[in-house]
Amino acid sequence: MAGATGQQHYQPLFPHLLFVALLLVGASLHLYFFFYSDEYTIVSSKKKPSDKLAERGSSTSLNATVGKPQTEKCDLFTGEWIPNASNPAYDTSCPLIGMAQNCLVNGRRDTDYLHWKWKPRDCDLPPLDAKRFLETMRDKTWALIGDSLIRNQGDSLLCILSKEDLAVDFYHDEAWKTSFFRLPSYNITVLQIWSPFLVASQYSDAPPDPGTTAVDQISIDTLDPSWAALYSSLDYVVVSVGHWFTRPMTMLVKERELVTGCYNCEGYNLTVFKVEEVYRRVLRLFLNFVGASLHKPTVIYRSWTSKHFESGDYNSGGVCNRIVPYKPGEYSGVEMDWKMRGAEMEELDSGFEGRPLDNLKFLDLYPVALLRADGHGSKYWSSERKRKNVQDCLHWCLPGPIDTWNDLLMQLLMSE
Ligand SMILES: *[C@@H]1O[C@H](CO)[C@@H](O)[C@H](O)[C@H]1NC(C)=O
Ligand SMILES: *[C@@H]1O[C@H](CO)[C@@H](O)[C@H](O)[C@H]1NC(C)=O
Ligand SMILES: *[C@@H]1O[C@H](CO)[C@@H](O)[C@H](O)[C@H]1NC(C)=O
Ligand SMILES: *[C@@H]1O[C@H](CO)[C@@H](O)[C@H](O)[C@H]1NC(C)=O
Repeated sequence: MAGATGQQHYQPLFPHLLFVALLLVGASLHLYFFFYSDEYTIVSSKKKPSDKLAERGSSTSLNATVGKPQTEKCDLFTGEWIPNASNPAYDTSCPLIGMAQNCLVNGRRDTDYLHWKWKPRDCDLPPLDAKRFLETMRDKTWALIGDSLIRNQGDSLLCILSKEDLAVDFYHDEAWKTSFFRLPSYNITVLQIWSPFLVASQYSDAPPDPGTTAVDQISIDTLDPSWAALYSSLDYVVVSVGHWFTRPMTMLVKERELVTGCYNCEGYNLTVFKVEEVYRRVLRLFLNFVGASLHKPTVIYRSWTSKHFESGDYNSGGVCNRIVPYKPGEYSGVEMDWKMRGAEMEELDSGFEGRPLDNLKFLDLYPVALLRADGHGSKYWSSERKRKNVQDCLHWCLPGPIDTWNDLLMQLLMSE
């Protein structure tokens, strides 16, 4: 959440090629494009993803039972956290852990939070098998698109996989918000793409402090080209946004380039939208794009996850000092959680033109993450950037419970 890339709503990586790419988006399965970095070329697949995994994947696709059992046998997302002494899949020496997530190195002393396993009620969740994942994904291109929480999960995934094949970055922007990796032995590409609203936007760099006068803008009818231009080159797409919509700054909402409403906007003579309605509109735009696109990658929408600030919010001294998870039913989130989750459930459930989207899966972490108030950076989120009394109760320590999000992702893709 902290910081932003500045006033531009996106930074074209290779402007002339991006322009070409924009022309091609959605054009045809038979079109594909290249882009270059110093040392690497991505060439998209001309074929529909037809590997076994993708085929099996579509048989468990999201439909009217969204959030309910993803397999006949087992609902992965209903269960509890149980103690388990086994160690995380990697340790603090993983070079891909951002400073702000390296809690143990930043001084966290309690370590029980590393020793819980998610136990779905009706089955067991095996840890992500890095070797199997890499073999299955050979030659594939993944993208993780969204805000710093999907970045957090992507870093976890890369750390897990790096035990088998060290991920090497071949492009990153200055702040490492967008960064591209290769797993060289398996010819796998993992793109981490910064797009905190999924749609075209302009937003302030300033931290969202109380009394901010910053004014942000989003265009709820225009997908952010920083990812949309690459869509046709992707085999697997993991998307998650949400928290940036709930920042306290004034938000102007644009359609057809005109401001048609706003929120957090007292004193503006404009139609006032609800945050969750705007989120819903963005999800709808995204789902319609996925449904209408001729290119059919496997798309995973990763759910909203709760913040766990107590005694205040992130900007008013809130803390998350718990060292054990909640038990099922002990904590149920706050009003904003239900609103944003409600928007997700309803939009994802309604699919595209009244039909389920065969290539879309819902990684429904909400109930899993809700219980892990103990897994955040809290006061160990950074030795440098830490401001007085500011804890991080949104992002997750690495290693930490967020590694389980990837175990679930693997299971969701692999399960029959
Ligand atoms: C959703 O999936 C379930 C279980 O696979 C199936 O019984 C049901 O008919 C599906 N619903 C729709 C609308 O496709
Ligand atoms: C702990 O977790 C590991 C990995 O999931 C599993 O193999 C093992 O059986 C678990 N141990 C216990 C005591 O449940
Ligand atoms: C790597 O994967 C791409 C598809 O993403 C493929 O076009 C290329 O031939 C592969 N390279 C090698 C060396 O196998
Ligand atoms: C608010 O906008 C409406 C419609 O554009 C206009 O009629 C009205 O005068 C405006 N009110 C103020 C206080 O500017």
